[in-house]
Amino acid sequence: MKAIRIEQFGGPEVMRFCDVEVPEPLAGEVLVKNFFVGINPVDYKIREGQYPEVKQDKLPLTLGREVAGLVEKVGQGVSDFKKGDRVFAMIGADGGYAEYSRVPAVHLARIPHALDWPVAAGVPLAGHTAWQALVEHGQIEQGQKVLIHGGTGGVGHLAVQFAKVKGAEVYATASTDSLPYLRELGADRAIDYKTERFEDICKEFDLVIDLIGGDTQARSWQVLGEGAGWCRP
Ligand SMILES: NC(=O)c1ccc[n+]([C@@H]2O[C@H](COP(=O)([O-])OP(=O)(O)OC[C@H]3O[C@@H](n4cnc5c(N)ncnc54)[C@H](OP(=O)(O)O)[C@@H]3O)[C@@H](O)[C@H]2O)c1
Repeated sequence: MKAIRIEQFGGPEVMRFCDVEVPEPLAGEVLVKNFFVGINPVDYKIREGQYPEVKQDKLPLTLGREVAGLVEKVGQGVSDFKKGDRVFAMIGADGGYAEYSRVPAVHLARIPHALDWPVAAGVPLAGHTAWQALVEHGQIEQGQKVLIHGGTGGVGHLAVQFAKVKGAEVYATASTDSLPYLRELGADRAIDYKTERFEDICKEFDLVIDLIGGDTQARSWQVLGEGAGWCRP
């Protein structure tokens, strides 16, 4: 099969289009024939050697951390999936940019009918991140106030929708052109980070989801109320 691999860390030029063996699913794993794969900031961080869990000893590896496709084969002990199932998954730091990926069955889910292939391939990693930040770490509750930085990005656009479903009051930042989209996603207040200062608008918030970092992180502490939380995925 074809796969996009790196043998060393560096810029885009280190990516190689390679021929490699189709992997065999081990016990508890599923082999997925990928139709679409997601591309995320973590991919370039891995490629550049900036990702703490992937050091020189993990090379060479195939980039890509989320896939959508059809089940090709199941490993020993897998009974929840069968050949032909339409599935998507977030995978470890090795294996997404390829024609086939080996995925632990517990990381796999069927794609809802409403999602087409390209949309499905963009959901697992960003969706999982947004859910972890808001629900698992942030423990967001109905009526709480949350500020989401980068509310129209890959993670942010899902975080805004999840927070609304959880009954939170959602303030989110985006650039000027993206504000209508942010309102469409359900944000109660769309803040233009190019012309407004979020710390002048948000007071006593329960949670900040920071998808930007740096100066945005430093300025975010002051918007939190007592007992509040901050999450940088
Ligand atoms: N994607 C994932 O699955 C995932 C998983 C784990 C961690 N992360 C991390 O989460 C961060 C965001 O990832 P992403 O995939 O959501 O990135 P993304 O799709 O590039 O989104 C980032 C968003 O931030 C906005 N933005 C840029 N500068 C800003 C500022 N100063 N204030 C507020 N918003 C600003 C951009 O909006 P405009 O274009 O309108 O300026 C853009 O929509 C990255 O550090 C990434 O490594 C991502």
